[in-house]
Amino acid sequence: MSDSQLWDDVDAYFTALLSPEDEALQAARRDSDTEGLPRINVTPNQGKLLQLLARLQGARTVLEIGTLGGYSTIWLARALPADGRLITLEYDAHHADVARRNLAHAGLDRIAEVRVGPALESLPKLADENPPPFDLVFIDADKSNNHHYVEWALRLTRAGSLIVLDNVVRGGRVTDPDSADPSVRGTRAALELIAGHPRLEGTAIQTVGAKGHDGFALARVVS
Ligand SMILES: C[S@@+](CC[C@H](N)C(=O)[O-])C[C@H]1O[C@@H](n2cnc3c(N)ncnc32)[C@H](O)[C@@H]1O
Repeated sequence: MSDSQLWDDVDAYFTALLSPEDEALQAARRDSDTEGLPRINVTPNQGKLLQLLARLQGARTVLEIGTLGGYSTIWLARALPADGRLITLEYDAHHADVARRNLAHAGLDRIAEVRVGPALESLPKLADENPPPFDLVFIDADKSNNHHYVEWALRLTRAGSLIVLDNVVRGGRVTDPDSADPSVRGTRAALELIAGHPRLEGTAIQTVGAKGHDGFALARVVS
């Protein structure tokens, strides 16, 4: 059996037991496929992990950067109380339309709001609204801007907030200080920011599973 088949099988076992999808999550993936969106959403067990992290945070507010069809958004929004608020930022208007539909189908359209545009334009507008600090920020968009997104997350959070950064392994190329790949450079810059920033403490974890070899970074806002 190949390594990837083994990882798939174990992921399938964990998912069926611990993080099965309900009809709305299945519909979100199906609809995203039908609408031609790339299959780059988190897996069900990763979605459940995000949901647990939001619950552990006691989160009332979540900011997501990178919506796609709203699959991770559904997992996260379900961790929030009825008067909670999730704002998710998406560059692509078609992705945003699909996500809005999926969130409405999941009964989450009152909690989750999709904002369209480049996140680096949406974030200053959001900051101008002086929102209450976000309890959790999930960063999963264009990796070249990861360091900017961590900086924005710092501005929009409070002591005790959690920042989650997805896809930090970059096929192992994250270790290459000379990489010309913008995604590697942005990810390394974000990790270095987390490592060196006096207001952050963090770590990064490698994962294997249905999405191959990947990983995420977690950072807690200290002050
Ligand atoms: C990996 S997908 C997000 C997956 C989603 N979080 C999930 O797991 O279901 C990345 C998304 O970020 C969006 N994106 C890319 N660049 C962006 C930018 N500059 N601003 C906002 N969104 C962007 C892409 O269009 C894509 O929909």
